[in-house]
Amino acid sequence: MYLKRIPGQKLDLTPNTLKFIDSSPVDIYFWKHTVESLRLRLITSIWWLGTLHDDYAGQVRNEPGTKMAIEVLIPSIIKVGGGAFAEASNILKRLEVQHPLIVTDAFLVRLGLVESLREQIEKAGIACDVFSETVPDPTTDAVAAGLRVFTRGRHDALVSLGGGSPIDSAKAIGMLAANSGRAREYRVPNEIPKKCPPHLAIPTTAGTGSEVTRFTVITDSETGEKMLIAGASLVPNAAIVDFELTISMPARLTADTGTDSLTHAIEAHVSRKANAFADAFAMAAMKTIWAELPIAFHEPGNRRARESLMLAATQAGMAFSNASVALVHGMSRPIGAHFHVPHGLSNAMLLPAVTAFSVKAAESRYAECARTIGVAGQSDSDVEAGRKLVHALFQRNQDLDVPSPKKYGIPEEQYFSLIPTMAKQALASGSPQNNPRIPTSNEIEEIYQQIWN
Ligand SMILES: [Fe+2]
Repeated sequence: MYLKRIPGQKLDLTPNTLKFIDSSPVDIYFWKHTVESLRLRLITSIWWLGTLHDDYAGQVRNEPGTKMAIEVLIPSIIKVGGGAFAEASNILKRLEVQHPLIVTDAFLVRLGLVESLREQIEKAGIACDVFSETVPDPTTDAVAAGLRVFTRGRHDALVSLGGGSPIDSAKAIGMLAANSGRAREYRVPNEIPKKCPPHLAIPTTAGTGSEVTRFTVITDSETGEKMLIAGASLVPNAAIVDFELTISMPARLTADTGTDSLTHAIEAHVSRKANAFADAFAMAAMKTIWAELPIAFHEPGNRRARESLMLAATQAGMAFSNASVALVHGMSRPIGAHFHVPHGLSNAMLLPAVTAFSVKAAESRYAECARTIGVAGQSDSDVEAGRKLVHALFQRNQDLDVPSPKKYGIPEEQYFSLIPTMAKQALASGSPQNNPRIPTSNEIEEIYQQIWN
């Protein structure tokens, strides 16, 4: 791997903020910022050309020494830190938008956060409206309602505020505003031809990483399928990562969203599309999440843990957006779609079993995960480290009170009768094909059976 700066790029680096002004080709730039408790090194690049890390290329791609080019996409502005929420109007000015639509949910309206954002934006002389009818596991119907508001109001930009659902909804609204047709026409592997309107994403949970990713997941209201849609134009133009917005998250939501981001980091690291750029984020994120999640789960007011988890969730988002997720996510989406299990929770139900299934196909990669999070040491062999990782993941689920599908209350008959359908949907999403061990449909069915109780 090599690193090179291209002269003349305008980089404006200030504490808590990395502003990347030029979108023309650059290579990786590492910046050690000054936030004391965080070890994050924000790395930004719009385009990176390089080679795979030597010990990695052969293992995952089975093409020893192969050189490849990867495309790295992240928002051009990311504001990180407590109080960054107050920067929303300034960012909208920099994006030169005139009439944004705030996409959010009813809970945040009741909380007063939406009104606070609207006031901030209007004080800056920018007129805006609010669409607050997004739903958890956003559906094509809810997106259509948002699209009507966006079109009728002649809006030119989107500001999403909330967890993954409002952010994913805003991405789909923007995609359909710029491109004709229906969401299902753009699901993976189809492309999104036209550029979406400017989008500022403001997450209020530390989990999905959607504020920095090229993905949106939308449930087809007609078929119930959770569709994965991907494209460069879905990456928000700007993101505000303010941990203070997460302080009031309840314990269950903290655990589920945190496990979602842990899964992003692990899957990005073991994915067949893994690369050295994404690895830097994945490893930093998984170490932080592993250490801090139990603390935030048991002490919701712990600001240091909240701050660390918020940043790690964004790091994990940058990792998987540029390396992709794998089998856990592929199998998790159908559980969420059919039984309305929160996304992070269905990931947690699957993560230990899927890791046990996959570990032999990428022993050194899983061993690196185990050593990074501290459940295995340098003296452990890769096989032993992988075994310890699987054990630790099962144990972690117990610590975070993760229920099995049965204990969650899913009807047994319905669950087992839908297993073949869920396996088919998992495979169709494309995510299992990124897994180190690519499963057959039967193997996916077996894993669904294993995790039942
Ligand atoms: Fe996820």
